[in-house]
Amino acid sequence: MGRIPQHFIDELIARTDIIEVIGSRVQLKRAGREYKACCPFHDEKTPSFTVSADKQFYHCFGCGAHGTALGFVMEYDHLGFVEAVEDLAARAGLEVPREGGSAAPSQPHDEVYVALERAALFFRQSLGGEPKAREYLSKRGLTQEIVQRFGIGFAPARWDALLDRYGTTDDEQQVLLRAGLIIERQPDAGRGASPGFYDRFRDRVMFPIRDTRGRTIGFGGRVLDGSEPKYLNSPETELFHKGRELYGLFECRQATRSIQRLLVVEGYMDVVSLHQAGITYAVATLGTATTPEHLQRIFRLVGEVVFCFDGDRAGRAAAWRALENAVGEVKQGRQVRFLFLPEGHDPDTLVQEEGAEAFEARLASALPLSDYLIRELSARSDPTSVDGRAKLVELARPLIRRIPSDVYRELLVAQLAETVRMAPARLAELLQSGEQAPASRVEPPRFGRAPRPAAGPVTGRGNLVRQAISLLVHHPAAGSGVGDVEALARVDRPGVPLLVELLAQLREDPPASTAGLLERWRDRPDYGPLSRLAAGECLVPDAEAAAAEVRSAIERLVAEDALVRLQALQEKAGQAPLTPEEKAELQALIRARAQSTRAVPAK
Ligand code: CTP
Ligand code: MN
Repeated sequence: MGRIPQHFIDELIARTDIIEVIGSRVQLKRAGREYKACCPFHDEKTPSFTVSADKQFYHCFGCGAHGTALGFVMEYDHLGFVEAVEDLAARAGLEVPREGGSAAPSQPHDEVYVALERAALFFRQSLGGEPKAREYLSKRGLTQEIVQRFGIGFAPARWDALLDRYGTTDDEQQVLLRAGLIIERQPDAGRGASPGFYDRFRDRVMFPIRDTRGRTIGFGGRVLDGSEPKYLNSPETELFHKGRELYGLFECRQATRSIQRLLVVEGYMDVVSLHQAGITYAVATLGTATTPEHLQRIFRLVGEVVFCFDGDRAGRAAAWRALENAVGEVKQGRQVRFLFLPEGHDPDTLVQEEGAEAFEARLASALPLSDYLIRELSARSDPTSVDGRAKLVELARPLIRRIPSDVYRELLVAQLAETVRMAPARLAELLQSGEQAPASRVEPPRFGRAPRPAAGPVTGRGNLVRQAISLLVHHPAAGSGVGDVEALARVDRPGVPLLVELLAQLREDPPASTAGLLERWRDRPDYGPLSRLAAGECLVPDAEAAAAEVRSAIERLVAEDALVRLQALQEKAGQAPLTPEEKAELQALIRARAQSTRAVPAK
């Protein structure tokens, strides 16, 4: 299915009132221009959660939580982005359009949900009449209670069990097809009851996969014997996206009111077995690697996650992939750890063999992400030799630069420095050296005391670029008609490309509020820094005053850049002859400086 177009998100945000959205879930009290409440995201007695109607933005001074109405619904209702959009759209009476829309654009999903629910019920009922399947489950150590809790069933060994019941008309068959429950027969391939289609799942134990609201969106089916494939999963459908779902998440949330941590394992049986043993915070990816989407989903729910992998080669490879995706998500308050099981075991066999307590003892000693990262990098390089250390730095660089938290990154660099017996500052420098300046970050990653690229001072009266961006975030209307954006675009400083892009965006099509601006950046790396700026205070009261400030910031940035360039050229001229282009540039700079009436602030 296509993406939700940005213009729709714009409209949705413009038509949504954050006060209403939050007010329907949390008791809000008016306080001047804002509203206050006790924060729903942490425990508190006095309200530090504020909602601004102007900015259409919330912020908690206690725990730092912040975001738009859309972000609030995601956070508070534990919904994914699309689900939250659908929720707000339903409230505003809007239908969610899709880009491209090859797969029947906004056809309602209701009948597909119904078909999946009916199938789940049918499989559960079939299990009753199938002794060999019941025996299989009890041989695997599952109680009836857990089989019921997970809605486990059985798909009969027929080509048309579902079709016969629920797919007798063309329309019904189309729905079963959309649900991924039947397969279209290839033109000349064989015979069967219903011409055209056959049941996807046959003679398998069926595990329903549910979304966070408990609706069945797909299935995993396991053979009873050794035949292949061992597991068959639903295909990607309009409702089921393998790389996003976590098997068992609904059941976790049913079992525990507030989940503290999640344990991510590899298989269906692992999840079910762990839950049966009382470890009800286990979920599984569905035969795929852990994706960034999984991680975002996990961290929306909990601050602590343990990845559990088999001790074999495949398990270690899967763990490393999980680490590569996780480094982009580590922050203060988030704990990511890795548990490796002894070879030949998986969580299912292990927890059945040694019990929940012993298994939880293993969890308690799981490796923190940093330890695992360093252990693995050391194993791949040999940090005792000079060459090995160089290699380790190369291996570490791409991972470390993806870490969004400065504090965490510095801690990791310090730990790594100890491993390679190097001064942290020196290591930071080496890690930095191969790095190009990131194109558009408000807060460029900096390692230790590594020198900044020669582009002039970033600070002075606070970082000008940052100030300008912050003003625009608080007062999007200030973006129209400000100064010389072309000259600004030539200024070589961190954050300038972002500022230029913001200005272009605001000039073309200014959003009505801070929230509207932020929602355009949700999928981009700068979303985090921008929304943190939005959460901060803005001392400038209105768009007009903000526009004046932004104009002056741009002028100063351009002037400072010219000064830096001028000094560099003069310095060079004192040591070596300039090229003709450099001479021309120097003269132009001197002329411009003489003409400029505005004093350039001293460094
Ligand atoms: N898997 C899959 N397709 C396969 C094999 C595996 O989708 N053909 C996925 C399933 O989600 C499965 C997980 O990978 O649960 C782990 O596979 P594996 O370790 O082979 O199976 P177990 O979970 O140990 O299954 P069981 O204990 O039932 O043998
Ligand atoms: Mn297993």
